[in-house]
Formats: sequence, structure tokens, C-alpha cells
Amino acid sequence: MERTTTTISPADVERQLDFCQKVAAVTAQWPQQPLAFVDTYGCQQNEADSERIRGYLAQMGFGFTTDEEKARVIVINTCAIREHAEQRVLGNVGALVHVKRRHPEQLICLCGCMMQEPSVAEKIRQSYRHVDLVFGPHALWKFPEMVHTLLTQRGRIFQNADEAGSIAEGIPVVRQDKVKAWVSIMYGCNNFCTYCIVPYVRGRERSRKPEDILAEVEGLVAEGYKDITLLGQNVNSYGKDLEEPMDFADLLEKVNAIPGDFLIRFMTSHPKDATHKLFETMARCEKVAPVLHLPFQAGNDRVLKAMNRRHTRAEYLDKIRDLKSLIPDIVLTSDIIVGFPGETTEEFEDTLKVLEEVRFDALFTFIFSPRPGTPAAKMEDPMSHEEKLQNFNRLLALQDAISEEKHGAYVGKTVRCLVDGFSDDSRWDLTARTPGNRLVRVVGGKEAVGQFRDVKITGANKWSLFGELV
Ligand code: 5AD
Ligand code: SF4
Repeated sequence: MERTTTTISPADVERQLDFCQKVAAVTAQWPQQPLAFVDTYGCQQNEADSERIRGYLAQMGFGFTTDEEKARVIVINTCAIREHAEQRVLGNVGALVHVKRRHPEQLICLCGCMMQEPSVAEKIRQSYRHVDLVFGPHALWKFPEMVHTLLTQRGRIFQNADEAGSIAEGIPVVRQDKVKAWVSIMYGCNNFCTYCIVPYVRGRERSRKPEDILAEVEGLVAEGYKDITLLGQNVNSYGKDLEEPMDFADLLEKVNAIPGDFLIRFMTSHPKDATHKLFETMARCEKVAPVLHLPFQAGNDRVLKAMNRRHTRAEYLDKIRDLKSLIPDIVLTSDIIVGFPGETTEEFEDTLKVLEEVRFDALFTFIFSPRPGTPAAKMEDPMSHEEKLQNFNRLLALQDAISEEKHGAYVGKTVRCLVDGFSDDSRWDLTARTPGNRLVRVVGGKEAVGQFRDVKITGANKWSLFGELV
């Protein structure tokens, strides 16, 4: 199939906003304001997409609920990255059949990466007949039109054609948080790591124009947001597809130049594209948080090659050394897959060696999950699940010890943190984040939420820090 990236024209987005008005005219006639439940699985990109879905729904006259019994519209934004995530979604969608029996007028909508998989969409079509609307990430911008069609003529809609993907500007957004915001700077991925389904469901890399990104960040800063994360599957290849090419380091510099007291974060970076220039820019730009999430997935070169990661262990470690020499207190996090097909326990131990050398502050660890349609799903995978689990537990134990030691080093220090919310643990009042994004549970008054405050760190464990407002 010929794949071309398209920009959705402002007129086409405007037409969707007209559909919002048409739906709003319908919902205004209903006896009560209708409610929508938007449930999100997976990564921050999905969270950001859900904020746009909520933005559209708000324009259509909907309020929001997390009670599926009260929802006139349910939207489930799904994740395809691992089989476990997919099974949870299918279980929950299956259970909705009973809810809908009680509320036959309910509209059930499924979107996100799973819906871009043809086999999943087919399964929904055949076996989940209570689902009214299925759309992939590529069709999100047309959500109002689809809702309008369903409300005026019922039936089912499947909008999940395989596309290279597009960019649509000007979609309204309802953000969940008042302190932290996500800003997508690019969509899609060109890397085709052999285990990963993302390039198949999110299409090719395409970058938003810098002026659109800068305007969005300026707006957020004006609204009082203090912590802004630039999002993309591989932010380090930002800009390669723009008419006037610019790189991610240049973009960071421009975002850093926006006046105001706020922090800039970004994710995710691919080691092969993380450059010395990026590290220098991070060191120089005072608003860029001293933290880097740099997935290395596996520590053995044969495995890295089989994963199509296009970097070696030595190259990865060189980059980390370079970065640490420029930003000595850098907080480092990474993603790791245990049990990639054919990985032996000896090869897995190379992953442990990387942990010992780098001493990450935290890790996101996964056991390999075969994704249909990816090359790794067809590879020989002789190791038993038990053995993979044993290796996985060794990895966790080592990282727990490192995290605990790293967190312990904060005790006694005073750190300027962003107080971002209320603690769900009653022994602490608030939650805060260090510049390196470590969680701090804090004793202090609620008026501090949304502010940068000095926090005296009084304790730590492997998951988080504890402290009090100074
Ligand atoms: N199995 C296990 N983990 C995976 N990831 C991506 N695809 C898979 C898979 N098939 C992990 C990678 C990636 C993170 C977002 O999810 O570590 O960096
Ligand atoms: Fe998946 Fe690799 Fe792209 Fe990350 S860089 S989204 S792991 S293909």
C-alpha cells in the first residue's frame, strides 16, 4: 500500500467542530446533560489522545463521569503493546454487554492502537456486537462526525483503515491535570524494533510544526501549567520530515526560551538518535529537567541486533558516560524486555551488567509478549516462561536495591520540588516530584499544590521519597 503523510486541512477540522455543534443541538434537547466516560489504557500518547476525545465531547455538550452506568457514551482508548493489556480491554468490553442491556441507548466506542489491528477489529465486529464504533488513532480527528452519524441513524461504524497517518491541528482539548500537561510533538514510529507493534498501528513518523508546538506550550504556561512533557514515540528523530528540517535539540532550545517558571520533560528517546548535541542542550537549558528516559531493552549485542535496535551495548554506555559528564546529577530511567525469543540466561546477564554500570534511578521492565504481525512473534522462543520469570525477578531484585540506594542518598537534602497533588496514602498530605521526576510524599498544607516548593527529604524507600515542606 502506498503510504503518504497528510496534514488535515483547517477546513476539515472546522467541519468536525461543526459536527460538534450539531450534536450539541441534539444533546441540548435531552432532559439532563449527558455524561461520557473516557477510559484510557497504555501510554501517555493515549492519555493525550483521550484529552482530545474529551475536548470534542465537551463541545458536543457532554459532562464526564467514571461510572459506566451513568454514561450515555463510553469511549475505551486501548493499548496493543502487550497481550496482557489487550486481554484486560477485551474482558472489560465484554462485561459492558450487561451494562448496555440496562441502558440500550448507550453508545460504546473503542479506539486506540488495538483497533488499528485488523484481527482485533474483526473480532469486535463478529463477537462484540454491543460495540457501536471502532476507530484507530488515524481517525480520531473525525470522532464528532462519527458520533453524529450514530446519534442520527444508529448502525455500527468501523473506521480503522491502514494509513501512514496524518496530523490535525486545532482539536479542542480537555486536560485532566492542572499542573502537568502532555504536548505531542510528533506521531508514529519508523524504527520497527522486531518485537514492537507501534509502527504498525501508529503509522510513520510525522512531526508537528514547531510554531504549533510553541504556541501550545505558550498557552499552557499562560494557564499556569508548571510541568510540560513533550511526547513522541521517538522524539530524537523530531523534525526530519519537516519542510524546513530542524532537530529535537533545536526544538528544546526554543521551548526553553518561552518565558515563565516551568519544567520541560520529554519522552521517549531512542539511543541511536540521542546525540551529544542533545545532551549539551539539556545541560544548557535551565528549564529542561535533569532526567532522561533512554530505553536500552537488552544488554547483549546479539539480542540487540535481533531486536533491530541499531545500537550496541558499548554505544549505549558511551552515550550515558557522555551525558553524565555533562550533567552529573542526571536521573536515568530505561525500558527493558526480558525473555526476547532466543535470549539465553547468559545473554540476559549482560542486561544485569548494564544495570550495575549505569545505576538507573528506575526501570520499566517487561517480559516479552509476542505481538501478531511483528517479526519477533515468528522467532523460535525455546525458553520456558518459568525461566523467564526467574530472570525477570533477578532483574527486579537488582533494580530494587539500586533504587533504594539512590533514593537513600536524597535523605537530609532539601530539594525544590513541584507539588502536584494530594497523597493517596493518609500518612502524607501531598505528592510532589523532584526535578528528576522522583515521587515525594510530603507533609504540608494543600495550598502548596501547583507550586514549586523546597521540600526537606526525611526518608526514602525503593519506590519513593518522603519529606516535609520547608
Ligand atoms: N513485549 C514486551 N515488551 C514490549 N515493549 C514493546 N513491545 C513489547 C513486547 N512485544 C516494551 C518496550 C518499550 C515499552 C514501551 O514497552 O520496552 O520500550
Ligand atoms: Fe516500538 Fe522501537 Fe518505535 Fe519504540 S522505537 S515505538 S520500541 S518500534
